[in-house]
Amino acid sequence: MQVSGIAAVVTGGASGLGGATARALAGAGAQVFALDLPGAIEKADAVDGVTYVPADVTNPEQVQAAVDAAGSAAPLRVAVNCAGVGTAGRILSKKGVHDLDLYRKVIEVNLIGTFNVLRLAADAIAKTDADENGQRGVVINTASIAAFDGQIGQAAYSSSKGGVVGLTLPAARDLATSGIRVVTIAPGIIDTPMLAGVSDEFRAALAEGVPFPKRLGLPAEYAKLALSIVDQDYLNGEVIRLDGALRMAPR
Ligand SMILES: NC(=O)c1ccc[n+]([C@@H]2O[C@H](COP(=O)([O-])OP(=O)(O)OC[C@H]3O[C@@H](n4cnc5c(N)ncnc54)[C@H](O)[C@@H]3O)[C@@H](O)[C@H]2O)c1
Repeated sequence: MQVSGIAAVVTGGASGLGGATARALAGAGAQVFALDLPGAIEKADAVDGVTYVPADVTNPEQVQAAVDAAGSAAPLRVAVNCAGVGTAGRILSKKGVHDLDLYRKVIEVNLIGTFNVLRLAADAIAKTDADENGQRGVVINTASIAAFDGQIGQAAYSSSKGGVVGLTLPAARDLATSGIRVVTIAPGIIDTPMLAGVSDEFRAALAEGVPFPKRLGLPAEYAKLALSIVDQDYLNGEVIRLDGALRMAPR
């Protein structure tokens, strides 16, 4: 699918993987609407072709308004779900039992937020004209290798990302009649602000655990894969690991 002249929404578009993807799509000629929380947008750099839209992915009205804005700029054909939160907490620890509201919060943002954007973007994409192959657009979600190799303390996060993995195939099947593909990227450890609090020593240990290339992934590598997915019309209903062959140990 061609990127030039289309509109795209990218959630979490003010930082990390979403920021890199918004820049890459804009660089390829898309009009990008980068949805993020107001605090993150305040800190984001201005990028040609990227319009920042304050929106919480869990809020139907705010996401609908952002999707409408994108669709009125150009035909909306691409939605990339990068908004997410990471948390850690054991089910049972010295601090007590896992907080249920924390579990709900992670599911709400990472899974329900992803579904909310997917459904509203798909509704707008489905109303555009199809190309010569009957294709209207593509939705890209972000899971994590924690969906498969969840570590100690990742019960909530892994549950949310496992939900995104499980969503991928039925969403692709549901949306096939509308000419919309759905593909999920499951990143390994990518060097983004999500890892900001991690010491250099721990960062080096993380890199050491990656078979090859022996380093953390780059946000630009995620963005490159996202653009390849948009370009590759036969890729659908699949979850792609982007992790240098990393398989996480229990801790
Ligand atoms: N960095 C990694 O190693 C890694 C690995 C696997 C998966 N992921 C996933 O990739 C995605 C992007 O992560 P990142 O590393 O770029 O992190 P990041 O913290 O740099 O970016 C996440 C963005 O999401 C935004 N966000 C959070 N809650 C939101 C909400 N309710 N509504 C709208 N925006 C919201 C944040 O403000 C932030 O700008 C996340 O889903 C994360 O779980 C990251």
